[in-house]
Amino acid sequence: MKFFIDTANLDQIREAQALGILDGVTTNPSLMAKEGITGEENIINHYKTICDIVDGDVSAEVIATDFEGMVREGEALAALHPQIVVKIPVIADGIKACKYFSDNGIKTNVTLIFSAGQALLAAKAGATYMSPFIGRLDDISTDGLGLISEIRLIYDNYGYETQILAASVRHTMHILDCAKIGADVMTGPLSAIKGLLKHPLTDIGLAQFLEDYNKGN
Ligand code: E4P
Repeated sequence: MKFFIDTANLDQIREAQALGILDGVTTNPSLMAKEGITGEENIINHYKTICDIVDGDVSAEVIATDFEGMVREGEALAALHPQIVVKIPVIADGIKACKYFSDNGIKTNVTLIFSAGQALLAAKAGATYMSPFIGRLDDISTDGLGLISEIRLIYDNYGYETQILAASVRHTMHILDCAKIGADVMTGPLSAIKGLLKHPLTDIGLAQFLEDYNKGN
């Protein structure tokens, strides 16, 4: 399973990259605003900086909601850097734009997926990735991981190559469950990724090893 980090925070992106396990970055307008990155020029420069830090794919979201606008913005974003993936909302014009981009060799991430039907359309439009938001479904008493399983089944039935990018991951158990289900990618916060390392027996064992080593020194 690929690990993406879901943030526009450069320190966190650098820390995840330094761990050596980072496969990419997802951003959205809210994550940009959270870091105080506003205005087209600043946002574009931020994408370029992120691409310089990481080796993998970097999702950059279009703001337009009409086909022509999405194509215009998406082509400009894709031209910024080969690692850019154009992130498009799963609305009718978004599906049309996804098909256009896939026909023209531009990578896409169809976002705001909350149902298997939306996931099916994204795959048929040739999306590179599509992002079901599991945490936001859990927030409203709906089974986010259940949706990932459903999409996995549908994609495997027909051999769709669109990668299931489990998004809105909130904690380490989400990451583990996504891996068990067979999500292709998960995107989550650095805290959830680092949470995978935590085990008290590791800490106790390491402390003991160091104590025993020092007995002879
Ligand atoms: C996906 O790409 C989104 O950026 C993100 O995962 C949304 O997560 P949230 O529900 O924590 O805002």
